[in-house]
Amino acid sequence: MEATDPMTSERASTTTRTALVTGASAGIGRAIAIELANRGFALVLVARREQALEILAADLRERYGVAVRVAACDLAREGAAAALFDELKGEETRIDVLVNNAGVGLYGAFSSSDTERVDRMLALNVATPTHLTRFVLDGMLERGEGRILMVASTAALKPGPWNAVYAASKTYLASFSRALASELDGSGVTVTVLCPGATDTDFARAADLAPSQRIAAKGVAAPEEVARVGVDAMLVGRGMVIVGLTNRILAVVLRLLPERVVTRLMNRVRRGEEP
Ligand SMILES: NC(=O)c1ccc[n+]([C@@H]2O[C@H](COP(=O)([O-])OP(=O)(O)OC[C@H]3O[C@@H](n4cnc5c(N)ncnc54)[C@H](OP(=O)(O)O)[C@@H]3O)[C@@H](O)[C@H]2O)c1
Repeated sequence: MEATDPMTSERASTTTRTALVTGASAGIGRAIAIELANRGFALVLVARREQALEILAADLRERYGVAVRVAACDLAREGAAAALFDELKGEETRIDVLVNNAGVGLYGAFSSSDTERVDRMLALNVATPTHLTRFVLDGMLERGEGRILMVASTAALKPGPWNAVYAASKTYLASFSRALASELDGSGVTVTVLCPGATDTDFARAADLAPSQRIAAKGVAAPEEVARVGVDAMLVGRGMVIVGLTNRILAVVLRLLPERVVTRLMNRVRRGEEP
């Protein structure tokens, strides 16, 4: 997309454009919200922790002078995406940018996993971003412009033993996004897949990552860097972006190696790391 595109051009022209960011109360989503506010986008912030969203919203209004609306809800609940979208439609809030970021992980042997937790993860990581994307598309296609950012992971690039459903959920997002981007080619609406590697957020703790993995994951990338890379790629309409040189090299190596070798290697690395 050209630099003259209204999505990418100067701050003044973006002030009336609105971005909806899921999982904006913490980590990468919070950093993406700040990055977008800094570029003049009005925001709809979504997550469960209303107070954290309200504090961020007040800060963004004051620092960047943008309109910010908080929509606190549990996106793992059935029908959550439809309810949220109905609410926004009722208020005639137009969504120009959708950032599907909210997601959780779940580490450990699938054979001993809690099915309720697995279901909630699939709802949050797979069903909700799919539904939200469907809902924003009507308006975006009508206007002939829109940006969608899917926060996947480097876990999307390979099967993930001991992390099987999470990795599969991210592979789904990446595959879905690439297919949709192709369907939307020439429409003015683009879909970008962001693949961060380990990032310094609360994600690992929430996903029951083993202590040694938490240490290894700490400090690898700052959420602010992930947000900047993702927003830059999204605004110019890139299809996929992997964060960090090491992760990009890893992606090339993974493509060259036979999948069973990669999977066996991942199994060895993660085995015995169960919490
Ligand atoms: N950190 C990493 O190492 C890493 C690496 C690759 C990809 N990612 C991906 O990056 C995305 C963001 O993760 P993060 O690292 O920023 O994690 P995080 O710090 O734990 O933040 C997760 C965000 O999702 C929200 N969320 C969780 N469950 C929700 C629910 N049921 N309904 C609504 N919102 C919910 C949380 O808000 P509430 O708790 O307030 O609801 C929070 O805002 C995820 O999709 C993750 O898979 C992370």
